[in-house]
Amino acid sequence: MTRRYQATGGDIDEQNGYRNVFDDEQQAWADAIVAKYPNPRSAVLPLLFLVQSVEGYVTEDGMRTVANMIGLTPAQILASGSFYTMLKKQPQGEYLISVCRNISCTHRGAYDVIQALSERLGTDAGNTTADGRFTFETAECLATCDGAPSIQINYDDFYDVTPQDAVALVDKLERGEEVRSAAGERVRTVREISFETATAGARLPGTAGDHRARTVGGEAQPSDFLPDSRPKLSHDEGSHSG
Ligand code: FES
Repeated sequence: MTRRYQATGGDIDEQNGYRNVFDDEQQAWADAIVAKYPNPRSAVLPLLFLVQSVEGYVTEDGMRTVANMIGLTPAQILASGSFYTMLKKQPQGEYLISVCRNISCTHRGAYDVIQALSERLGTDAGNTTADGRFTFETAECLATCDGAPSIQINYDDFYDVTPQDAVALVDKLERGEEVRSAAGERVRTVREISFETATAGARLPGTAGDHRARTVGGEAQPSDFLPDSRPKLSHDEGSHSG
């Protein structure tokens, strides 16, 4: 059962003392996302992507907003969200550049790419540039070993990347020019891809009620399926005594 309070768009929840991060339009998307699930708590991950699309990363008030909306505690939201590396818990750049440093890519020059990007961006891997435009990280196998050395920019793939290629990609993005991945996709900002991820299901027709046969949660459960129901064990009846 949802227990969403009515304030939106930066209003402070007087009772709980936090800022609601969703404005009316974003709240409408959040409601549409929740409607896809038989149990509102199942909407945690897309709602956190929606927070990231609004805030740029998963802020504490964003987690509180989601918790209040779907009837979980902020600690439960943090426990779910902190498992996924695509959900960032601190400010990140508009563009996340991930450079594979696993075996195939290392043999094919990944560390030259890392060095070139460090010099171009003026920061070591793991950091965000001072202007907030780029976050630069090393990554384990990106599952595109045949294109080694491989990099991703906001999870879009680039193959056979030379140090010069990597620097040229940063130059283009910095100038605001369009960059296309190996698959021809336009590289989008973190906020854009977070919004697309959050709302992908909500933009399809139908609600949770259309798919009850293949979903679990929110139904009227038989008593032995309730959360506090446990099978009786033989020692519960004292058979171990004596
Ligand atoms: S080792 Fe780099 S993509 Fe697999």
